[in-house]
Amino acid sequence: MSPVRIAIFASGSGSNAQALVEKTRTLSVDKIKIEFILCDQPQAGVLKRAEALTVPSYLVKRTKDKAADEKKMIRLIDEHKIDWILLAGYMRLLSADFLKELADRHFGHAQTVNIHPSLLPAFPGSGALQKAFAEKVVQTGVTLHLVDEGMDTGAILTQVPLPLNFSESYEVLEQRVHQLEHQVYGDFLAKLVRQEVATIPYTRSIHA
Ligand code: GRF
Repeated sequence: MSPVRIAIFASGSGSNAQALVEKTRTLSVDKIKIEFILCDQPQAGVLKRAEALTVPSYLVKRTKDKAADEKKMIRLIDEHKIDWILLAGYMRLLSADFLKELADRHFGHAQTVNIHPSLLPAFPGSGALQKAFAEKVVQTGVTLHLVDEGMDTGAILTQVPLPLNFSESYEVLEQRVHQLEHQVYGDFLAKLVRQEVATIPYTRSIHA
């Protein structure tokens, strides 16, 4: 069986992208492979991380023409025969058309996942952690979920709570949440390798 082929989409610092790459390297290379990191922001730290990690990266700069941007992304998906897309701080909603294109390549499953720093459905969208901190909630957490065209509304795969410690600063909390995200995403990769999460391999037969 060929390796599960992964693309990471990111817009920011890229700590999750880096953790995913590092985790993959501890797993069997013939079972899973990060094909590339895609970024839409030229200044994003994730591009430097990709270079340091010697992982191919593509900058598909965000323009006003989302459909054209997504067409470029689909071309990369096809070139690399991507099985799973892992969103890691990718700050643009994927369109229904884009997700359908992906689903068409995986017998109806878009196989796209996102990590979010809250216990969804609490605090969807950006600034989730700042909001939880400001509201002094007793606990927050991390959610791994399938991606649909809504804002963090796809089916939940995993949720791990994280109690807040009221004496800690926002920065310390953020660090703890990031660590938890890296662990949850890493566990997901391990599940893919063990086939505890089934992968429907990329196929272009219906498009050929
Ligand atoms: C993470 O908190 C992730 O949950 C959210 O965006 C942030 C990205 O952080 N979707 P990083 O760029 O991976 O460090």
